[in-house]
Amino acid sequence: MTKFIPVNEPLLNGNEKKYLIECIDTGWISSEGPFIRRFEENFSSRVGRKFGVAVANGTLAIDAAIQALNIGPGDEVILPTFTIISCISQIIRSGAKPILVDCDPFTWNMDVSQVEAKITSATKAIMFVHIYGLPVDLDPILGLAKKYNLKLIEDAAEMHGQTYKGRPCGSFGDISTFSFYPNKHITTGEGGMIVMDDESLYLECQSLRNLCFQPQKRFVHEELGWNMRMTNLQAAVGVAQLERLDEFVNRKRAMGALYTEQLHEVEDKIQLPVARTDYADNIYWVYGVVLKEALGVDAHSVMQKLSEMGVGTRPFFYPMHLQPVFTKASHFQNESYPVSEKISRLGFYLPSGLALSEVDIVKSAKALIKILNEYS
Ligand SMILES: Cc1ncc(COP(=O)(O)O)c(C=O)c1O
Repeated sequence: MTKFIPVNEPLLNGNEKKYLIECIDTGWISSEGPFIRRFEENFSSRVGRKFGVAVANGTLAIDAAIQALNIGPGDEVILPTFTIISCISQIIRSGAKPILVDCDPFTWNMDVSQVEAKITSATKAIMFVHIYGLPVDLDPILGLAKKYNLKLIEDAAEMHGQTYKGRPCGSFGDISTFSFYPNKHITTGEGGMIVMDDESLYLECQSLRNLCFQPQKRFVHEELGWNMRMTNLQAAVGVAQLERLDEFVNRKRAMGALYTEQLHEVEDKIQLPVARTDYADNIYWVYGVVLKEALGVDAHSVMQKLSEMGVGTRPFFYPMHLQPVFTKASHFQNESYPVSEKISRLGFYLPSGLALSEVDIVKSAKALIKILNEYS
């Protein structure tokens, strides 16, 4: 029987085991252990920031960013509709209003030309989210933040090792956040990081991570936080993974190039990822494809067939303005973002994990070509 090709499988064959054994041998398994500081320092300096706060996942990293920037009732935050729910949930919980923009049909990132028209006197922040492997076109966003005195929240969850015009992603937000879920370029199993340069934001995020315990009066709370601590075990894996980030980025780029070479012959039927823009080369966090409308089939049917042929896939994000949890609560009434709606219906990604072999990339591409040719 041929093996099912999973959509993601991480590579954990560096120093991960050695550092984990160190944790066990020394008894440091909680969030107090020395790998936490080491991971925070190594990671934040890698992305060119002064401070890093390791947390339990990338969703909580965003939650903390929203709270640390004092975003709440009366405030508006502009963000893309084509993203993961993690970006919006704390905006809504805080009582602030999310204001959506559509995405670019080719990079799938926030359409930055739509942002300025959405700015009002209530706008407090822009949250930009780098999607699938290319960064958001940042110069226009940085210009707007300056012009209107807005805070920037950068969700760089998928962007480890990527740069915008040579400067690391994760270095552009007042607060920038990362995820280390196993499908990311580097993983800690579950995990996240909040990075910043401002010391007061750093201290606030540290406090929010740890239930807002106070150093002098431990169990007396002036503020509500979360327990979003990362464990020393997770940080040990993170330190080992970070040692290999450049290798992993190169590997993903080679994987992306191989997929593109294989799928070139069906470019009349599917849109492939953009390999480079004038500000960045794709790092292919995932290898996404969008079926051409003329094919007359949606992503779900093609993914189903790929699964039957032993190839794992995931659908593209489902836009925020269509999420039942929000429409039921009367958010985003009569709002429509056609590009996001289209790519969410027609887009999906192929096996993209770092452990994927070249043979499996070729097999996955060939399976997709076979299916697409049935529709011609
Ligand atoms: C853009 C983006 N933001 C946030 C997250 C959330 O990260 P986590 O799964 O670590 O909570 C993800 C996860 O994949 C993501 O892709």
